[in-house]
Amino acid sequence: MTEPGPGTGQAHAAAEEAARAAPELSQAELDRLSQAELDRPSQADQDRLVSPLAGADERVIEGALRPKRLSDFIGQGRVREQLSLVLTGALRRGKPPDHVLLSGPPGLGKTTIAMIIAAELGAPLRITSGPAIERSGDLAAVLSTLGEGEVVFIDEIHRVARPAEEMLYLAMEDFRVDVIVGKGPGATAIPLEIAPFTLVAATTRAGLLPAPLRDRFGFTAHLDFYEAAELEIIVRRSAALLGVALRDDGAEEIAGRSRGTPRIANRLLRRVRDFAEVRCDGVVTREVAARWSAGSAAGRSGCPPSRSRWGRRRRRWRWWPSRSWSGRA
Ligand SMILES: Nc1ncnc2c1ncn2[C@@H]1O[C@H](COP(=O)(O)OP(=O)(O)OP(=O)(O)O)[C@@H](O)[C@H]1O
Ligand SMILES: [Mg+2]
Repeated sequence: MTEPGPGTGQAHAAAEEAARAAPELSQAELDRLSQAELDRPSQADQDRLVSPLAGADERVIEGALRPKRLSDFIGQGRVREQLSLVLTGALRRGKPPDHVLLSGPPGLGKTTIAMIIAAELGAPLRITSGPAIERSGDLAAVLSTLGEGEVVFIDEIHRVARPAEEMLYLAMEDFRVDVIVGKGPGATAIPLEIAPFTLVAATTRAGLLPAPLRDRFGFTAHLDFYEAAELEIIVRRSAALLGVALRDDGAEEIAGRSRGTPRIANRLLRRVRDFAEVRCDGVVTREVAARWSAGSAAGRSGCPPSRSRWGRRRRRWRWWPSRSWSGRA
């Protein structure tokens, strides 16, 4: 155990003196103060709220909110249209479509589109990711067990290990993999036929992909940040799925602050919904969203107008992402 330093006793005495000098707070005020502290989001919470990355707990709820078919997918008009042509053509020919590369910032719908592609083709979907493919054997294990027409989704493809990447070239082009048996000069490559499949790959770092890999995708789509009007539709759709009472002005408010990203829009909706249910009458409106953004503005008693001393204090904690931040680089 460390001994208290020489200054510790003095500091303690000063703190006690300050505490004695502080005005007496009534129990009600103390309650409200501690509640305000509770409601006030920590810095980490604030950062997480506007982070486009998904937390582990968030993935489950995201699954429930994902559009399942292309017709439910909102925004990204050009990508949707072109993808629809690619998929319809493939279905007519009765052959798997070209391999698809989806790039763009996190939270814009790459995984969602991968799932939609499999659903539209009526094909099973195998999901893996770049970091999970450390050796070429990991990839061979996935590819060699594919059935005809299956869709393989590789998330974060820019993180696939180099030897596996080379195996992927052959697989994408010739539906064949070379399995290496043995080591050193005696090693031999045994060619293995694989069933025709469609690779859907996603990346947030398209620039890191080597050109030979990029060139093997027949269809490349870059997802862009969403317009506020599109996010508004997404928020209304999510509210309907979650059973949230959402007014138009509430949807507009949340959409305007979502940094062009559906993931953030859905997250804000859930947080404001919680606030509306606990502190207000359960309806998400512009006013409720604004009060929540002020970090505890409503206090314990529901949603009274915050003109009190405590209301003024709470307004200092405004941290709601600014509307002026458009989300575009
Ligand atoms: N166009 C859209 N319409 C409705 N909801 C969408 C749309 N795009 C994305 N979402 C929602 O946003 C959330 C995040 O989408 P998704 O997981 O597909 O993003 P991502 O681009 O794969 O992100 P990451 O790069 O982090 O993997 C999902 O819950 C999904 O429901
Ligand atoms: Mg994803």
